[in-house]
Amino acid sequence: MCGIVGYVGSKAAYPILIEGLKRLEYRGYDSAGVALLANNKIQVFKKEGKVAALEELVGEQEVPASIGIGHTRWATHGEPCDRNAHPHVSNDGSIAMIHNGIIENYAQLKAELEKKGYTFKSDTDSEVLVNFISDIRTNNDCTLEEAVRVALNRITGAYVILLLDENLPNTIIAARKGSPLVIGIGEKEHFLGSDASPMLAYTKDVVYINDYEMVIVRPDELILKNHTNEKLTPYVQRLDLDLAAIEKGGYEHFMLKEIFEQPQTIYDSFRGRLDVEQARLTLSGLDAIQDKLLAARRIIIVACGTSWHAGLLAEYLIEELCRVNVEVEYASEFRYRNPILDENDVIIAVSQSGETADTLVALENAKKKGATVFGIVNVVGSSIARLADAGAYTHAGPEIGVASTKAFTAQLVVLQLFALKLAQLKGTVSPERFTELVKALHAVPEQVEWILNNQLDRIKEVARKYRGARDFLFLGRGYNFPIALEGALKLKEISYIHAEGYPAAEMKHGPIALVDEHLPVVFIATKDPFYEKVVSNMQEIKARKGRLVAVVSEGDKVAETLAEDLLVVPQSDELISPLLAVIPLQLLSYYIGVELQLDVDKPRNLAKSVTVE
Ligand code: F6R
Repeated sequence: MCGIVGYVGSKAAYPILIEGLKRLEYRGYDSAGVALLANNKIQVFKKEGKVAALEELVGEQEVPASIGIGHTRWATHGEPCDRNAHPHVSNDGSIAMIHNGIIENYAQLKAELEKKGYTFKSDTDSEVLVNFISDIRTNNDCTLEEAVRVALNRITGAYVILLLDENLPNTIIAARKGSPLVIGIGEKEHFLGSDASPMLAYTKDVVYINDYEMVIVRPDELILKNHTNEKLTPYVQRLDLDLAAIEKGGYEHFMLKEIFEQPQTIYDSFRGRLDVEQARLTLSGLDAIQDKLLAARRIIIVACGTSWHAGLLAEYLIEELCRVNVEVEYASEFRYRNPILDENDVIIAVSQSGETADTLVALENAKKKGATVFGIVNVVGSSIARLADAGAYTHAGPEIGVASTKAFTAQLVVLQLFALKLAQLKGTVSPERFTELVKALHAVPEQVEWILNNQLDRIKEVARKYRGARDFLFLGRGYNFPIALEGALKLKEISYIHAEGYPAAEMKHGPIALVDEHLPVVFIATKDPFYEKVVSNMQEIKARKGRLVAVVSEGDKVAETLAEDLLVVPQSDELISPLLAVIPLQLLSYYIGVELQLDVDKPRNLAKSVTVE
């Protein structure tokens, strides 16, 4: 949520910042801006809209600086407009600042500053903070670094801030609490970013900054301190990531590229963990908390959005295979609910970004109460990954499309591995069933490939047919109920068509009133123990003239007689089959969004990484 970049070195800063902002645009695209420092003068350009609008604004103007900061915004305080775009500049014009996060006590600080005569051009909490810092510096006649430290000790909320000072020609000061910050180390140059993508073309050596840390960055110097001014030693890590992984590679959209990457990413998420020949499963993160897990009274899964859907599916899986109580919680509710937790509870956090604020705080609270945290995270080195007592990465690679696709299927795989491994340790799964499931999982990449090769034209046709619908229902039972929820969420995000997911049998308790000859109802009707019941539910919809679309297993003859349109997936075990059923639904949303000529990679109002609550 909001992307930040910075550069200090000897190269022209502006193109590096613009390229960096484009890479971070998935984090927010309400407005974009840069501040550049040359000849002791700060130059600010900012514009409502995407980075392209900022580029247009700057046009052919000379921007000679070799130090600068840039921001792409997801609005929190104040509507998206030029005025509220970052960077914000202090009243005296000497400090420019960009901010990702929320300053909770900004209203009180603003009132204090207004009494002193400060004026504000924007409605943002960030403009308050830069003036608060400036005021502290003036009153205490101290350095910017000291003023930042004092200010940060007085504010509440979450932030990453980057500051430029007219009087410090070669220095960026940055600090973080609750939002991500990475520093890239080059040859007499440094890069700053919300993630490593803006610096990947220049360096793979990075330092992840922790909460309550500050950095003073110059071309040939990186000073790391905590908020009490103690110097710390930066821990430099080498990134195992290629530039190609964050580029479109010939696809029209990142979302399509990421859907098509799934045969590989699903494979990558079990590669090295699953030995099919020996029917052996290794999940080293789980081993690290094995005793806690075996003794756990219950497992609580905490997540948001699509990751929550993966968690819901895992509840069914773990309870079935491991015979342990599982609860699934929305992180945003869980964090404020004062849940009853102690050292007998294990929390599984599921998160693509590893930075979702609600999930992060929910975990911090749970840890304080003694619970053990297991993280299932995609972004290596992210805050949740570092907070967890143990965990397993999903290995889906960078996901740039705002709507999650490959990260979701990778989460499902890791949760399936988790359930299988725990079941093996607990002795709640027979060796035969274990082998069956391991084999079914191993077959998935090829089966996804089959869907991508054989169903695309049909899915495009269905997308064209229903692109004008106002509402959609997605229905499934058992393991496919979370997939119905995910299908509906994907469609809402990408096409702005209203969609609801329901357990198919729940339909009779209300939603069936919506059914008429205009309503497309998408059933997930793959061959599993609920199949007959789902078919009955389909008949109920058909009797009320609803327009039936069904995701069915290859060779299905019954659903064919009921549904107008069939999206076919290969047959698989009922525990594994949701991994296949979700693929046509991802593609359906994608192609409806394309039919409607929408920006599927950057749907309105959304951001990839929700670092505010
Ligand atoms: C939907 C989507 C969101 C995220 C949610 C949690 O396509 O991407 O619903 O799943 O914001 O994000 P993470 O997984 O990063 O914690």
